[in-house]
Amino acid sequence: MESSMKALSSDFGLYFKSFNLFIERSTEHQCMEKFIDENLPDVVTSIGKKGVSSLNVLGVGSGSGEIDFEILGKIQSKHPGLSIHNEVVEPNPNQITKYKDLAKEKAQGLNISFTWNQMRSEEYEKQNKERKESRKFDFIHMIQMLYFVQSVPDTIKYFHSLLETNGKLLIIQPSGDGGCHSLWNKAGSYFPTKSGFLGVQKVLDEMRVKYQIYELPSDMDITECFIEGNENGERLLDFITDVADFGKTAPPDLKAEVLRYLRHPPCSRVENEKIIFNNDLYFIVVDN
Ligand SMILES: C[S@@+](CC[C@H](N)C(=O)[O-])C[C@H]1O[C@@H](n2cnc3c(N)ncnc32)[C@H](O)[C@@H]1O
Repeated sequence: MESSMKALSSDFGLYFKSFNLFIERSTEHQCMEKFIDENLPDVVTSIGKKGVSSLNVLGVGSGSGEIDFEILGKIQSKHPGLSIHNEVVEPNPNQITKYKDLAKEKAQGLNISFTWNQMRSEEYEKQNKERKESRKFDFIHMIQMLYFVQSVPDTIKYFHSLLETNGKLLIIQPSGDGGCHSLWNKAGSYFPTKSGFLGVQKVLDEMRVKYQIYELPSDMDITECFIEGNENGERLLDFITDVADFGKTAPPDLKAEVLRYLRHPPCSRVENEKIIFNNDLYFIVVDN
């Protein structure tokens, strides 16, 4: 299938138009908040070396930081009295500006300091290696960002190597039974972005590290994707395929196949005349 398809994620502006709509139409962040409220407290209880007075946290691909703040709040409530140093790696200048504004608003009175790295995870790794110094972290998270890295195995291995004694790495991504996995297994080879996220568990198994997976339900209303010419539908399709303007740039047979596949199980179900995409999430907690 010949095409002029370009990765949506290579265009920061367009990407965030689609991402914001995805957040509006899905229960993605509500699902993450449920995990943070119900499961994360147990996960973070054991982090931190004995006798330390502060904890180091690292967010990789943090976006505008809303979820990071929920995580920081939980860590602080489990470790009252300890200060937190939070380091952020985020390449998008608009997102990191939003995160800094949020930090000004929310971090007042909290014992949290920040280091901002406006760069990709690959640059962060290179910079640390050149300086021959790297901070160790008690908690590292990579939330819905592994699709964009050059190498999923190298990224996981590098950030796992930065874990402090008792440290934990949290990876959040679509579940193995969800619509994203099904669609990308079926059609991912036609999209310009690599579908490296499909192999995260294999990487962890090969690393022989201990990990635990929590799976929580999440939905996305994709009804508009099936209304010809609907602007929101176009942007959601772009997000799901990570193709900029998928509707106009994909070969017609690929577009028809993707729409047909998206409409039915295992990708979606019909509920109250709406087409509801399975956006279930995996929360993968990796031990040091
Ligand atoms: C889907 S957003 C997720 C944002 C946030 N973690 C959340 O869940 O709300 C993916 C984020 O990864 C960032 N990103 C893309 N490529 C990256 C890379 N190579 N290293 C670090 N972050 C990256 C993007 O700029 C974006 O903010």
